[in-house]
This record gives sequence, C-alpha cells and structure tokens, in this order.
Amino acid sequence: MKGIYKFNFDNVLKDKIGETGISVDEIDELRDFTNLAKANVTKKYEKGDLGFIEVLNEDLEIYEEVKELSKEFDYIIIIGIGGSILGSKAIHQGIYGSSNTYHPKVFYLDNSDPEKIYETLKAVKLEKTLIFVISKSGNTVETLANYFVIKKHMDKNNITPAKPNFVAITGGGLLQKIADKEGYMCYKVPENVGGRFSVLSAVGLAPLACLNVDIHNLIKGAKKMNDICQTDNIFRNPALLNSLIHYKMDNTGKKISLMMPYIGRLHQFGMWYRQLWAESLGKDGNGQTPVIALGATDQHSQLQLYMDGPEDKIMTFLKVNTFKQDYSIETDYDSDLKGHKLSELINSEQLGTEKSITEKGIPNVKITLSELNEYTLGMLTYAYELQTAYSGELFCINAFNQPAVEHAKKLSHAVLKGSIKEKSYNEIKIE
Ligand code: PA5
Repeated sequence: MKGIYKFNFDNVLKDKIGETGISVDEIDELRDFTNLAKANVTKKYEKGDLGFIEVLNEDLEIYEEVKELSKEFDYIIIIGIGGSILGSKAIHQGIYGSSNTYHPKVFYLDNSDPEKIYETLKAVKLEKTLIFVISKSGNTVETLANYFVIKKHMDKNNITPAKPNFVAITGGGLLQKIADKEGYMCYKVPENVGGRFSVLSAVGLAPLACLNVDIHNLIKGAKKMNDICQTDNIFRNPALLNSLIHYKMDNTGKKISLMMPYIGRLHQFGMWYRQLWAESLGKDGNGQTPVIALGATDQHSQLQLYMDGPEDKIMTFLKVNTFKQDYSIETDYDSDLKGHKLSELINSEQLGTEKSITEKGIPNVKITLSELNEYTLGMLTYAYELQTAYSGELFCINAFNQPAVEHAKKLSHAVLKGSIKEKSYNEIKIE
C-alpha cells in the first residue's frame, strides 16, 4: 500500500496574507526554539514517558487472536469514551465511511445516553456481537455503566454466544478486576500511553483489526511519518512546522484552530483531532479552540463567519486527490458542471475557499493525501500526535495530562453518591 502526504504552508506566509503571517526567514530564525522542543520530546521518549511513540514497535501478531475470534461474530460494539474510542471511530470511518454496510457492523457506545444503548440493542443480535470494553483507568463511569447494562441484559435474557464475546482493553481499575474475574480476553493499555494518544496502541488496533482495517499499513504509515520527523530541518518536518505555525498564529490572536476536511471520510478524524488539540493544550489559560467543519457542506453554513467574522482563526484544509468512487456529471442542460466529475467539483470548491480566505488574510495550511487508505491515515494520525507533543513544548504546557477532565470525573462520582445536589436559584420555568 502506498500514498503521498503533502503539507503546504504557502498561505501562512507574509507575502500571501500580509503582516499577520510569518516569513520563511522568521521560521528559520526560530531554529533553536523548535529544535529545543523537538529535543525535549526525544528526551521524554528516551525516558520512557511517550508510549505513543513506543507503540509503533509493537508486535502486531498479538491482534491475530482477537481477529480470529471476531470471525465468529456479525456485529461489534465498542464501549469507551474520549480517547478510548475517538481514534478507532476516526480510523474506521477514514477507511470505510459511515454507511455501516460492511461486515461486521460496528456500533459505538460512547455516552451514557440511555436512548443510544436502547437503539444499539435493537440493532444487533447480542449472541452474534463481539463487545470491546475500553478504558485505560478502568473506572470511567460512562463506560462501566454501558458494560453493566449490556451484561445484565445478556444474563437476564439468557443470551449465550457460541464464543466468549467480551474483550477488555484497560490499564487497571474496576474493568481489570471484572476482566480477571470473568475471564475476558484482555489487552493492556500501557501506563505511558495517554488516552487521546492511544489509537495506535491496543485501544485502537484491537477493534480495528476485527473491523478489517489493515493495521499493518496503518502502523507502516505512522512509522514513515516518525522517520520523516526525525530531522531538525523544520522545512522537512511537517509535524514540527505545523506546530510552530500554530504557535505563532496563536501568538497573533488566532485562538481558533479550524480543521476542514473536504471528504466525509475524514470528518471523524476531525473529531479525534478536536479532542487531541483541546485536551492536550487547553491548560492554565492557554490553548486554541479546535473547530471542525466539513467541506463543501459547511461552506453553506459556516464560511460567512470564517471569512467575515472575528479574525481569530487558523484553518487547516484536508483534501484527497483520488476518491474511492466517483461520478461524471452528465446533463443535456447548459451547465458549467457538464463533463466534470464530482471529485473535481469538491476539490475545486476547496481551492476556491482557500483562495478566498487567503485573499482575506486568514492564515491557512493544507494537507493533501494522494488517496485515503490505511497508510496515509497512519501518516496523518501520527503527524498530529507528534505535532501535539511538540506544541506542548512550544507552549510550555504538559500535553499529556488532563486535570480538568479528572476533576469533572470526580464531581460526577460525588453527584452519584449524593454528596452534590442540583440546586438552582435563578431560572425561568415555563409549563
Ligand atoms: O485522553 C484522555 O485521557 C481522556 O479523554 C480519556 O481517554 C477519557 O476520559 C476516557 O478515560 P478512560 O480510558 O480511563 O476510560
């Protein structure tokens, strides 16, 4: 499997967007700053702190067992939340789209919304369903709750699949205890792999292997990107360059990082990026707010604001050159569309939008993939993980913790235990 990844940064340069931009010389002059960030990431990796890099060397044979087991099933449910599920969702959609017409069908339980679990239980036959329960801490309430509901439902209704149908992926906590007691097949989340950086570990690879994603090529792409990003030459290192660009733009008030893929299959990738960027860098009053829009659809709902609203955005376009399917537009009517393909139309719209926002002086970068397959998706995913790690260094932020999320988790436990009650003094009630 092959593919080309291109990172284009023309439209952040001063000669394209004016004074808010950055020049090639300025980027070059920041060499010591960026090299220090890169060196610090390497140091952390060598100390054993950055498991998201280490996992690239994992033996992928360990996923053969679960892949074999999955052949017994027609449906897969993935239970998890945040970093434990967004990555596999992104990669699966990146390869198969969102139609859910492939075998096995996949369902994600990533919320404690009772209606969602009801709909999922309606859509699957549990005796033919392999269920992944994924939680690094093993204690996340939404994940445990979904597991308990499904388990009880199976027990009450005497649903007994021909083969054991629960797989736990965890680093400890109650989920580990359950897995040990119930004898579930279990994969470990390494201590040094943070949730939102875990898609290329068991968290993503075990379910993706069962969903017929070619995890070997996914990792091959990630490794290629890792090799490329070993250079100190920032003009050859897309993760470091994009990190610096976002840092510089943040410094000039671009507090929103807007990602706009022009292919539906990358929409979930945007959601994965949204968590990665927000939870890693949103600390101590810092951080850029990630926003996801889908081209060309959102040109007709959001672009007015992006072009004419507050000048607080840096945009990233994601595009692919070749689509898996394509259609020629044929008509007897007199139309500019005649003779073009839909892929040409969507990519023309991308370029048109790019030109117009550049004319407005809005900084933007573009990542072009020759095609969207496991290899290019591996490159893209890993580039963003590394970029986020570099950005932590540039912004002097610990990109690998999430104190606010942990605090909110504690508070929801307290609410459940009844030590916090809902009180409202100021409200408008209408009956
Ligand atoms: O990135 C993170 O650390 C978080 O988003 C976690 O992945 C999320 O809170 C789920 O945690 P856990 O995997 O422990 O269930």
